[in-house]
Amino acid sequence: MKAHIIAVASQKGGVAKSTTSLNLAAVYQKIHGYKTAVVDMDAQGHIAKQLGLDKDKFENTMVDVLLDGLPIRKARYVTDFGFHIYPANITLSALSIESAKDNHKYPHPNHLLSQAMDALRGDYDYIFIDTPPSLDAPTLNALVASDSVLVPVHTEYLGADGLVELVDAINRVHVNDGAHCELMGVVATLHMEYRAHNMEMLKELKIYCEQKGYKVYDTFIRRAIMMAEAARRGVPGVLYDPKAAVTHDFINLSKEMLSNGTK
Ligand SMILES: Nc1ncnc2c1ncn2[C@@H]1O[C@H](COP(=O)(O)OP(=O)(O)OP(=O)(O)O)[C@@H](O)[C@H]1O
Ligand SMILES: [Mg+2]
Repeated sequence: MKAHIIAVASQKGGVAKSTTSLNLAAVYQKIHGYKTAVVDMDAQGHIAKQLGLDKDKFENTMVDVLLDGLPIRKARYVTDFGFHIYPANITLSALSIESAKDNHKYPHPNHLLSQAMDALRGDYDYIFIDTPPSLDAPTLNALVASDSVLVPVHTEYLGADGLVELVDAINRVHVNDGAHCELMGVVATLHMEYRAHNMEMLKELKIYCEQKGYKVYDTFIRRAIMMAEAARRGVPGVLYDPKAAVTHDFINLSKEMLSNGTK
């Protein structure tokens, strides 16, 4: 087993990065039978939060792994749903400054996650990395550690704004850090298919991405009130309501991702 690592990234806030990471991990595990995990690289700690866990009560979190060299398996938390998470909280906000300030201790600050995750490659089929809404150290670490990058885009005006900067960041870590991650695709999120504006934005997104040569998945993830309810109850939406339309969206997305050769 050699895990395929997928970073879910976008510097735009609130586009469903955390929701997508969590629900895809649940679908890959529950529907496809893969062993999965989510690594949280966002100091907001939304992975733990969306699972109803107190992000400040973990004995070990990603900051201990990245800055203090704690073996990553010691930050593993086994969820009630089968998949594992590697949680983060506000303490992770020290990463950017601390890793840049001590060249001796951190000679390759963008490689901290990649090096730590080497130990996990044998433990899973798929690992999703949730990233913060920025292109700073946590996201750069996620890009360097990953094989593929999935980009959620909200089908709103300016939704695709920032896609170019993300692709630039991917190219930069290739050159500067020897990274090998590839943009696997763009997925439309928080979509309302009955709303003309969203349909228009989806059409524009597809045209724009086609021009740039970026793949857009046929599946879009619909906005559903159930998702907020599920998050409040600490259950991934796809497990909270297996029959919901949005659950089928995540399943269809996972099938498209799998058929596009991520393994
Ligand atoms: N399909 C959906 N339907 C309805 N609400 C959703 C859906 N997906 C996500 N949400 C809600 O939208 C909000 C933003 O989602 P999420 O936290 O996953 O975005 P994010 O990109 O990770 O945000 P950030 O940039 O702050 O990390 C959350 O309140 C979440 O519950
Ligand atoms: Mg998030």
